[in-house]
Amino acid sequence: MATAVSVKTFPSPSKLATPTDLRPEEVQAVTEAVNPLIADTFALYVKTKNFHWHLSGSHFRDYHLLFDEQAEQILGSIDLLAERVRKIGGTTIRSISHIAELQTISDDNDELVPPGEMIRRLTDDNGRMAQAQRAAIEVCEKNRDSVTANVLQEILDGTERRRWFLFEIAQGMDNTG
Ligand SMILES: [Fe+2]
Repeated sequence: MATAVSVKTFPSPSKLATPTDLRPEEVQAVTEAVNPLIADTFALYVKTKNFHWHLSGSHFRDYHLLFDEQAEQILGSIDLLAERVRKIGGTTIRSISHIAELQTISDDNDELVPPGEMIRRLTDDNGRMAQAQRAAIEVCEKNRDSVTANVLQEILDGTERRRWFLFEIAQGMDNTG
């Protein structure tokens, strides 16, 4: 998402400008690639928990547990990404409003979402997230930050795992009607 951001993430105040051998433009490129991913990770975390809490139907136990497991994994990636940004001297997410500025994954405030629709929405969101993470890996690699690229590769593996599970569950729903 290329909209103007009112929360400044680069250059950092001098006391937050962690020393690095990366050039300022490289730090900026990585910071601007990773921070939107963190915002989307928060958005997807809340959506997955939302579905965990507001689920209804015959698959309650299975989906309730699956969504919780996925939410935990999603949450676990946030600190890794935010601290990569800080380790190279960028600044990262400050607030819920900062998240709202950067997120591309939409919030879900629907009163009641049928379980199959939850699976479909999360499949789409995880698919979008995988695409964005892969694009960010390329940015990191082009800007000599292979460490952030490696961290992102692990996180992308988790995104693809979630998408795989959701996809297979959707297949099962199609087969059984
Ligand atoms: Fe719970």
